[in-house]
Amino acid sequence: MSHILSAVAWPYANGPRHIGHVAGFGVPSDVFSRYMRMCGEDVLMVSGTDEHGTPILVAADEAGVTPKALADKNNRIIVEDLVALGLSYDLFTRTTTLNHEHVVQQMFRTCRDNGYMIVQETSVAIDPVSGNTLPDRYIEGTCPMCGAEGARGDQCDNCGNQLDPQDLIAPVSKVSGKTPLFKETEHYFLDLPALATALGTWLDKVEKTGGWRPNVISFSKHLLEDVRPRAMSRDISWGIPVPGWEAQPNKRLYVWFDAVIGYLSASVEWARRREATGQGSAEEWRAWWNDPEALSYYFMGKDNIVFHSQIWPAELLAYNGEGEREGSSGSLGALNLPTQVVASEFLTMEGKKFSSSKNVVIYVRDVLSRYQPDALRYFISIAGPENSDADFTWSEFVRRNNSELVAGWGNLVNRTAAMIAKNFGEIPAASEREAVDNELLEAVRGGFETVGDHIAHHRQRAALAEIMHLVGEANAYVARTEPFHLKAPEQRERLATVLNTLVQAVSDLNTMMSVFLPHSSNAIDRVLGGAGDIAPMPRLEEVEDLDGGDPYPIITGDYTDVREWAPREVVPGTPIAKPKPVFVKLDESVVAEELDRLGLAEES
Ligand code: MF3
Ligand code: ZN
Repeated sequence: MSHILSAVAWPYANGPRHIGHVAGFGVPSDVFSRYMRMCGEDVLMVSGTDEHGTPILVAADEAGVTPKALADKNNRIIVEDLVALGLSYDLFTRTTTLNHEHVVQQMFRTCRDNGYMIVQETSVAIDPVSGNTLPDRYIEGTCPMCGAEGARGDQCDNCGNQLDPQDLIAPVSKVSGKTPLFKETEHYFLDLPALATALGTWLDKVEKTGGWRPNVISFSKHLLEDVRPRAMSRDISWGIPVPGWEAQPNKRLYVWFDAVIGYLSASVEWARRREATGQGSAEEWRAWWNDPEALSYYFMGKDNIVFHSQIWPAELLAYNGEGEREGSSGSLGALNLPTQVVASEFLTMEGKKFSSSKNVVIYVRDVLSRYQPDALRYFISIAGPENSDADFTWSEFVRRNNSELVAGWGNLVNRTAAMIAKNFGEIPAASEREAVDNELLEAVRGGFETVGDHIAHHRQRAALAEIMHLVGEANAYVARTEPFHLKAPEQRERLATVLNTLVQAVSDLNTMMSVFLPHSSNAIDRVLGGAGDIAPMPRLEEVEDLDGGDPYPIITGDYTDVREWAPREVVPGTPIAKPKPVFVKLDESVVAEELDRLGLAEES
């Protein structure tokens, strides 16, 4: 048994999340975690909402509320959506807890004591109205290279050149519309050059142990070719106070410095909550962080790679005292670096890049209000942006739902249960099996290995396609054995064997499906006469902050009582009633309706 940390990117709480987000980090991390638990591994799956930084502050200003109030509102929406999707976090928390603040400051202090946080003068752009730092992309102006208007402080979309905000002609703040002030100021910088050798050694090691997607490892190594110190504090009034600079409340820790520490602080919070509820010890998190044998998998979209394959490992090395300046770790102990950074590509929608401001967006909440959560999970798992960008279209969504989920898998379950209900009312015992029966059972049994291997290596599309292939085999078995024609009394024994074989196949396929489609797997388990608890589900819980801050909702759950990832014999005599369909067929009119909502009706 291994300890496996499933570290899932923390969604920004600057608004509700769209399906691109859950396709990138949500569903894939859940499938992986559920699978590993079924294999008997000790999984700790953590995340939370990412609530500091300029986007939250800007959104709050626009809404005329405090950043905390804005974060509270979106945190709740996001928590509700992720629970409804069945994402099995051990703890989904937030970055505005006092526990998080303490862990972040503890890490910062030790990194500084070890010599990896250095103070440097730097020129920053300040919004003249709010006094806050303007990130490069919040400054717009005329491109000095091509003359295009609307170039951003980091890049011109017209000519593609990388820019510095100071280069822009007539720069304006996107927040206030005023000319930004550039001023020299002091900030803490993470001394990446002093950590570069150690980072390189770590990347060489993980490249050898393998498993990283080739583009992720090569991108990460490429980043090391040009390392500079990176600022870890900002001129902003919203964020975690910088230890030692408490007298300067307009300087805070950089949001990315604190967010990635969330993986650790959430693990600590999880253990503290276990102790508080009498389930374990507050030190239990160490099994995932201090034991060098423990494994950690980080799930995110590709725009997050730099922070997970460079900044976060650098923070860990600095904390551990493992860079050029050496040093020693604090009370958190020597912390593990990521085993794997599992980054996905982008999801587009109807051929366009998601953009909330342009209404090119499909919110998770909207999908869940109209469709089954597993219909969305199915689409993401079979057609998501795993290794290349992928496009979500409503016509594909409806087609896959109807022809694959409903007509393929759903129909197999339905006809199996219906035939058993009608002819026996319970699972019949098999007598002598024929070759055709054994072939099906062997194919399905073999699925546990092939499908499992795909999931373990983050090939979830192939994994689900393999299950669907086996579903096809089972449907073909029905066509070959024609149980509906086995009506004569002397054929009854054969009918019993065929239906026993079929329900055995369906039951095992349902076990495999449970990582992708937990809600419907439980429903199907009930159809097959089970208790409907093969896929444990997360729950939303209202909790107190452990250190006296505001209460908040978390996602947690008990996932220990989980079905094993292995074939399991059905029990003859188990009653099976006439089934109701588990999956809902969608009317074709759904496509036009949804495109209309998006204002894309006339284009279709
Ligand atoms: N909030 C970031 C995003 O949505 C992800 C943060 S991941 C974390 O892109 F680990 F840093 F929290
Ligand atoms: Zn340009």
